Amino acid sequence: MSTIEKAMERLAGKGAAPTPIDTGAGAKATALDRSPADTKVGDRPVHVARTTGHKAAVATGERLAIDPERMRQAGLIVPGEGKTRITEEFRRIKRPLLANVEGRSAAPIANRNLIMVTSALPGEGKSFVAINLAISIAMEMDRTVLLMDADVEKPSVARILDLPGRPGLMDLLVDPTLDIPDVLYDTTIPKLRIIGAGRSDDRSTELLSSTQMRRLMAELADRYPDRVIIFDSPPLLATTQSSVLAELAGQILVVVEAGQTPQSAVEEAVAELDPEKAISLVLNKQVLPSPGGAYGYGYYGQYGD
Ligand SMILES: Nc1ncnc2c1ncn2[C@@H]1O[C@H](COP(=O)(O)OP(=O)(O)OP(=O)(O)O)[C@@H](O)[C@H]1O
Ligand SMILES: [Mg+2]
Repeated sequence: MSTIEKAMERLAGKGAAPTPIDTGAGAKATALDRSPADTKVGDRPVHVARTTGHKAAVATGERLAIDPERMRQAGLIVPGEGKTRITEEFRRIKRPLLANVEGRSAAPIANRNLIMVTSALPGEGKSFVAINLAISIAMEMDRTVLLMDADVEKPSVARILDLPGRPGLMDLLVDPTLDIPDVLYDTTIPKLRIIGAGRSDDRSTELLSSTQMRRLMAELADRYPDRVIIFDSPPLLATTQSSVLAELAGQILVVVEAGQTPQSAVEEAVAELDPEKAISLVLNKQVLPSPGGAYGYGYYGQYGD
């Protein structure tokens, strides 16, 4: 038994306002726009509170178009294409994760709807797995998925899916007037919503480990308990960026590049994680024998049904 297999065996089974004022239209509204905080509407004294409206317009109604051809080229699951190897692999990967989301784990898991996708080292396939997992779950009958690009130094979700730059996680962390729905976008894949990485910021490491980030994670877990939230995350080793994500996500999926990642790196990464979490490993890019005798470049999920 390899060390990774042993690690997996060890991990198996764990897991644990003010009164609204009808401003009416036209002249009346304009008058109120310019009114002081204490004013009158007709004969009635009223207090006028103000909110900024421009932010809500950021995301409202915009549906990001995801091109199926682009997905096909990137080797991603293409909804509506029926049974393919990749859809089957992710069907097997998502099952135990969804069982945990539904509360069917052996031990209760806090924030079980928050799933962090990470790896020991860069380039192991985190974004590939996070995107496919999100699409696969969105294809379930009654599952809404929120995919968040939390790898803000190397944002990939928008690049891989060829999405336009929009405000995202970093904007949420630096701008206190923004709320989650302001950066949450619908997509042309039904039930798949996306929060991108947003603006780049020199303070990304600090921001990702800030109180705002903790608050955001807690809010995501509370506000959307029925929604599966998948975080494409920075690698675990050689960066501290993923520590709050790892601390607050209920489930952590560690992507391991088959035949490449040293076992010591996987062990070191897994050893840093809280064993109370539901931790799973995925062996990615495994080379599988193809029917013709040659070897394909494939994907292999480490889960049974
Ligand atoms: N199972 C797979 N089959 C084929 N190609 C894959 C697979 N997994 C990942 N790749 C490819 O490997 C490269 C790295 O994958 P990806 O960007 O998902 O890794 P990452 O861990 O997110 O990297 P980074 O640390 O830079 O964010 C990409 O070109 C991706 O298309
Ligand atoms: Mg990535």
